[in-house]
Amino acid sequence: MELSRREFVQAVSAAGAGLAVGKNALGETKGGVDDLNVAIIGAGAQGRILIESCLKIPGIRFKAVCDIWEFSQRYAKRYVGKYGHEANVYEDYRELLAQEKDLDAVLVASPDWMHAEHANACMNAGLHVYSEKEMSNSLEKAASMVKTSRDTGKLLQIGHQRRSNPRYIHAIEKLIREEGLLGRVTHAHAQWNRAKTEDLKWPERYTISAEKLAKFGYNSMSEFRNWRWYKKYGGGPIVDLGSHQIDLFEWIWGTHPRAVVASGGVDYYPHHEWYDNVLCIYEYDTPQGVGRAFYETLTTTSHFGFSEAFRGENGTIEISEVSQRANTAMREAHAPDWTPFVAKNMIKAQAAPPIKKSTTKNVAVDVRVTAEAGKWPLPVELTKPAHQPHLENFFNAIRHGTPLNCPGEKGYETAVAVLAANRAVATKQRIEFKDTDFKS
Ligand SMILES: NC(=O)c1ccc[n+]([C@@H]2O[C@H](COP(=O)([O-])OP(=O)(O)OC[C@H]3O[C@@H](n4cnc5c(N)ncnc54)[C@H](O)[C@@H]3O)[C@@H](O)[C@H]2O)c1
Repeated sequence: MELSRREFVQAVSAAGAGLAVGKNALGETKGGVDDLNVAIIGAGAQGRILIESCLKIPGIRFKAVCDIWEFSQRYAKRYVGKYGHEANVYEDYRELLAQEKDLDAVLVASPDWMHAEHANACMNAGLHVYSEKEMSNSLEKAASMVKTSRDTGKLLQIGHQRRSNPRYIHAIEKLIREEGLLGRVTHAHAQWNRAKTEDLKWPERYTISAEKLAKFGYNSMSEFRNWRWYKKYGGGPIVDLGSHQIDLFEWIWGTHPRAVVASGGVDYYPHHEWYDNVLCIYEYDTPQGVGRAFYETLTTTSHFGFSEAFRGENGTIEISEVSQRANTAMREAHAPDWTPFVAKNMIKAQAAPPIKKSTTKNVAVDVRVTAEAGKWPLPVELTKPAHQPHLENFFNAIRHGTPLNCPGEKGYETAVAVLAANRAVATKQRIEFKDTDFKS
């Protein structure tokens, strides 16, 4: 029996772990089994980052781009075209699924509120899905994605990319969990803080008509561009940014939180719906005792940038997805000029301490154990863009049946914990979780 390229790829991923596939096992000169045909739905800021990473992974072929905004369609089409990928462009994902018959997988990088609709339709059409975090701004919709993945047998990877980052795997899996370097980890502390920003704008000639915005569910062009701040489309900064890092607390302690308390508000940007700052504390029941994690996201100051600290009885590991250089550069970018205060002798100007140079763009250098900055760097470097290993993990699962690092079930558990922070702010109540809350 002769199998088509797509049937062969599907048979391999269905066969599960341990089945290795040789290159061009079908003997094809073009479109060998190692090649995967992919489409992207939502080619905005993050979609382009995923495209950039995929273009570095051998055998990934972009066949289609779907986006409702002409600006994003043109950008993505041109971008993949530069690398010799001829992608068809669609405005509506239904048309994409009706027309494209040789796809293996779809990357979903649309705004959070559309992930479930897009991912479910793709899996029901027989395609594997990589969906960006947050899985959804609604737990019901997030659960529907896990169910569709189970019902269809299609892979669903959620975009918590730190789970595939070799530095985080080394720090959390090896040092903290296997070697016990920190002893009992009693506390964790993480933050993602950003300087004040203006709302996103758009080039006048790419304004979407009111009719088309309404057709796709957006109330205005400004809401379409700044969807993160509105309850209909997203979960606000705590969900957008916090989901990556709150996910790590579950990873270090190997369990879900038992409770969360939070404070926050719409304090600085009165025209937004979502809280512009949230400070919260999660509690974990671990086999060694209680663990507590503090998390904050601020959008009026980038002090501390974004990083995580895992604090144990024998020391602390500080780590970030980006380099200390990048974190510092972000802080400096919006800093006001304080030299007049130096002239008035109110503060002293001092040369900034030199920042350790790293050889690669996305490497964290600020790893600190027992508070001795820079003394104990991790021996593992990430020499690729931050999202590439997670995409590789997804494509390897399709090609070889190897396990996903963040399957839908895991993404759902994180969504339960993260979305609860907003509820805790709204209700001014401590939220207690039951084990069953995390079952999808
Ligand atoms: N993993 C990460 O590090 C990371 C980083 C940033 C964003 N994200 C996630 O990626 C997703 C996209 O975020 P972004 O920053 O790129 O937003 P964005 O607004 O820049 O891009 C969204 C794109 O989706 C398109 N779109 C909107 N509705 C659509 C629809 N119904 N069908 C098709 N296309 C549609 C828009 O036109 C736009 O091009 C979000 O879920 C976000 O949480 C993940």
